[in-house]
Order: sequence, then structure tokens, then C-alpha cells
Amino acid sequence: MESPTSTKVIVEPAARLSGLVNCPGDKSISHRYALIGALATGRTTVIRYSPGADCLSTLECLRSLGVKIRYQKGSGDNDSCVQIEGRGLSGLSETSENLNAGNSGTTLRLLAGILAAHPFRSTITGDLSLCRRPMERVIDPLRTMGADIQAESNCPPVTILGGQLQGVAWNPTVPSAQVKSALLLAGLHATGRTTVREPTLTRDHTERALTLFGVEVTRAGLAVSVTGNSTPRARDVRVPGDFSSAAAWAVAAAALPGSEIEISDVGLNPSRTVLLDVLQRAGAKVVSEVHSETNCEPSGRLTVAHRKLQPIIISPVEVPGLIDELPLLAALATHRGGGLTLTGASELRNKESDRITALVKGLRALGANISEQSDGLTVTGDCTLTGGTVDPKADHRLVMAFAIAALGASGPSTILGADAVSVSYPTFFETLNSLRK
Ligand code: S3P
Repeated sequence: MESPTSTKVIVEPAARLSGLVNCPGDKSISHRYALIGALATGRTTVIRYSPGADCLSTLECLRSLGVKIRYQKGSGDNDSCVQIEGRGLSGLSETSENLNAGNSGTTLRLLAGILAAHPFRSTITGDLSLCRRPMERVIDPLRTMGADIQAESNCPPVTILGGQLQGVAWNPTVPSAQVKSALLLAGLHATGRTTVREPTLTRDHTERALTLFGVEVTRAGLAVSVTGNSTPRARDVRVPGDFSSAAAWAVAAAALPGSEIEISDVGLNPSRTVLLDVLQRAGAKVVSEVHSETNCEPSGRLTVAHRKLQPIIISPVEVPGLIDELPLLAALATHRGGGLTLTGASELRNKESDRITALVKGLRALGANISEQSDGLTVTGDCTLTGGTVDPKADHRLVMAFAIAALGASGPSTILGADAVSVSYPTFFETLNSLRK
């Protein structure tokens, strides 16, 4: 998202929210099905592919690399259908154009893992936000595996000259599903075994998706391995609703007295749902029921209702499982009775924006009592927000977090550049309005 102030949205306070929501397809899972489908033999059909700009960037990059893709946008957010003609392992074609990952770190990092094994030069770039994000976390291990990778100051554009890779045993210092996934995807093409030993468990969608596409993945504690020369087999798959999008409604329901929101057909993979424990600690009533394990991913129904809000403390060990929901928890903490102490979260500074600084500035502009630390922030939920004007720095998660905070203010709030929300949840504001009672 290049233009931070192009679309303003005014959010009025809400007395309560209630109703039933069906969120768009999961962003993380959609990326993986598209990328693995492109490496598979045969045609993969993906139903409910995420309509967000990030996942469309993945499809555009794959098209530039010679993958035939048919994308049928459905009538709503939930019935899009993508057909991907797999090119087989190491079957992508050289392109002279730069690959544009847009705002999407997942596209860039996972594709880097795949291109590291292709014997041609390719350059992946992105928007201003992506070109500020650190890439040495994937560059270093992929170089160790044998790829030649150049990136000035370790930021995009990243130029990769791929080739035959050797398997590696890598212990990333930062817990990151993107790093783990890039290495496992590179490992599919490598000689021998590739093992990633994470410092803390991160979302395991790549492991589940590879298994679904017929690749053997082994896990021993925090170590996950694949063996080289494993070609995925095409599948017809369906993406569950995005838990991180549903999180906005779960948090809004927890925040506003008298609210109850039900989210149907949402992903409930335990590596993503730490938020539900935290919402219970914050006082909310939370009921989640897994109805299906289709495609190796648990999904079901989630209902969250308001109960008297309590201040919360997030410990560093919880951060990886909550990484995309932390802005929403900062928003929750500004509602009456709330409060938040967050530490061990310096990774938030490496996201689509520096989320610590941007949250502190934005929530303070709305009237919050909030302070910034190098690895976190503290919110005292002892005042009602006044409302005001906030700049989410073209970061989709901050647009949603500021909107949920603004619901509890005494006056209206203006969110600048609110169109950034379309990176993951294009119909976010329509859904918000449909829940107002
Ligand atoms: C993602 C992993 C997380 C998350 C991002 C999506 C993924 O990033 O913040 O929104 O799909 O693998 P990191 O792996 O960098 O923590």
C-alpha cells in the first residue's frame, strides 16, 4: 500500500455489536496452497482463496514465473475459486521482470525459498513497507544451502540466483513461520534432509499443507524436517476462514458491554488461537467448537461475548502465537476496565509498519493512556477514549485495531489510509457496520 492517506474512514462509537460473521479465507493458508500447488504435479483447485491483496500478489508472482492460474472471484468474500496448473518441482520459468510481492512478506520470503532452487536469476521486490523489512533471516540460511542471493542492506529487492541446494539443519534465532516455511520449501528441492528447529512453535500451516499435498514431513519437538526431491501432488482444497480476521470481531465482542458475535467456519488451528486464552483471561466468554479437520486444518465455530473486562499481561512466550493479534489486544486494553502489559514483542517493529511505535502514537491520538518500551507497550485502561485522527501507516492490522479501539470512544474517529485493510480483509468495514445494533 503506497498511499497512506488516500481513503479516510470515520468510525462512530458503538454501544454494542452482535450477529453472525463469515470471514474471508485464511491469508497464510491461501499463500501456501498456491505456492505448493505451483510446485505440484497436476491441477490444484483452491476454494475460498483469500480475496486480500497479499494473496493476489502471490498469484501474480506465480503467473510471472509461467504458472497458469485461473482466478474466479465469487459473489462474496468466501466463494472465490483458484485453479493452479502445477509445474512440478523446480518447474518455474525464468522471467526478466521483477516479481512484485506488494505488501506481502509471506509472498517474498516463501517464494525466495522456492526460487533459491531454480537455476536462473530472479528479483523479488515490493512496496515501500516491504522494502524496509529485514530479509537476512531467510537470506543467510538459503545462502548456506547453496543459493547466491544479493540484497542491499538485507532489504528487498532481493536478487536470487538459484541452483542445486544442499539440505541444512537451521536454528533460527527469531521464531518465524515465514522463515521456517521458506526453508522447508527450499528443502523440497535439496539433497538430503532439511531441518528447522524453532525457538518457539509458530503457525504450522506449511507442515500441514505439505502433508496434505503428499509430502512426508517429520516433527520431533520443535524440529521439523523434509527430505529433498519430494514433489507435491495436486489436490482440491478449501481454505478455512481467517482466524486473524475473525480476531477483530472476537476482540470487539469482548470489549463492548452487551455484545456477542458468532464466527462460523473459521480456522481453529491451535498454533493460531492463543488469543482465545488471552480473551478468557480478559474476562470474555469464549466458546470454540472444532467441526471439521478437512485438509489437515481444524475449523469450526467461535462465539465471544462480553463480560466485565480485566487488564491482561502477555508473556514473551505467548507472543509468536499471537503475533498478528497483538494490535487488537492493545485496542481491547483501551476499553473500559481493560489494560495491557506486553513484553518480549520487539518483532512487532519488523511488521508491515513498526507496530509498537505506530500503535502508541495512534492509540494516544484517540485518547489512550499508553507508553512505549523497546520490546512492547503498556496501556492503562483507566480512561474513556475521546476519538481523534489516526494514521495506521498503511498497515492493515493497524486499520482494524484502531477501528476496534474507536468503537469505545466518546466521539467519532478518523482513520487515514483505511483502504490498507484490503491487504487481508477487503470487506472489513461493511462487516463492522452490519454488526452495529
Ligand atoms: C505469517 C507469519 C507471521 C505473520 C504473518 C504471516 C505466515 O510472520 O506475522 O502475518 O503466513 O507465515 P513471521 O513468520 O515473520 O512472524
